[in-house]
Amino acid sequence: MKNLSDIQKRILELKKEKNALILAHYYVPLEVQDVADHVCDSYAMATKAMDATEPTVIICGVRFMGESAKLLAPEKKVLIPAIDAGCPMADMVTVEDVLKLKEEHPNAAVMCYVNSSAAVKAVSDICCTSSSAIRVANSIDNDEIIFVPDIHLAEYVADQVPDKKFILHTGFCPTHHRVTEADIIAAKKAHPEAAVAVHPECRKEVLKHADFVGSTAQIIDFARKSEAPEIIIGTEMEIAARLQREMPEKKVYSVTSAFVCPNMKKVTPEALLNCLENEEFEITLDEAEAAAAREALDRMVKC
Ligand code: 13P
Ligand code: SF4
Repeated sequence: MKNLSDIQKRILELKKEKNALILAHYYVPLEVQDVADHVCDSYAMATKAMDATEPTVIICGVRFMGESAKLLAPEKKVLIPAIDAGCPMADMVTVEDVLKLKEEHPNAAVMCYVNSSAAVKAVSDICCTSSSAIRVANSIDNDEIIFVPDIHLAEYVADQVPDKKFILHTGFCPTHHRVTEADIIAAKKAHPEAAVAVHPECRKEVLKHADFVGSTAQIIDFARKSEAPEIIIGTEMEIAARLQREMPEKKVYSVTSAFVCPNMKKVTPEALLNCLENEEFEITLDEAEAAAAREALDRMVKC
């Protein structure tokens, strides 16, 4: 075990006392990842919450991750440490947007990225995460798929599943969208020996320069297995930091130094300690809405 700070030690004590499971996303600060039971991508976060035996699950991530855990584990107390940690992409799609698209394309199934509200999931047919998106799209019988909200993930999936017609929404992740083709070209020029792994929330013209495209957990796996002496990481910077610490024999670079999700950074050790001490902030959902949203998430887990 690494040297722990007093806050980290107190978190571990309280976690045991309160019989809580701590799940952390790869984008939250490393000091929080270091006291988690599991560090996950958004798919594993949801399924690990569902399989948890502990009565309390703490989701160290943004709000939609807490909502997904609550949907799949409704009998558990689900807490998030930072009440204001939202996902701007999730806020870009509304129920009205989905209903309008459904009206315009009545034969299409609605596939909804898990980065969305419970209300949007409730009017969707099936959810997906970045790691499950291709599998989910292939499982859909309809020839047309409305994909909300991420335009970049939708374009990536559409390329991989060419027999379906995709109807796209206009949402995007500001953190990934900000990265340009010029950024990735510059990073490759600076490190010509490096393998390049990129998240599918990046623009198409960025993805085309990657050796590997995948979810956060898949990027970590690729980097660990890669024989390249240097790796360029095209997603939130905490992943490059984690990999560099884990693999000091390799050189790990972020595509740009601006690759930061400000919302994930709100999940600090102090916020996690407060969450355990005061059992806040609890995720509660409207039950009628939750029942429909749960069906869309369940379909993803079962497909
Ligand atoms: P993953 O599903 O790859 O963990 O991604 C979640 C996310 O919010 C990426 O920006
Ligand atoms: Fe949302 Fe982007 Fe942050 Fe992921 S990185 S939580 S998509 S804002």
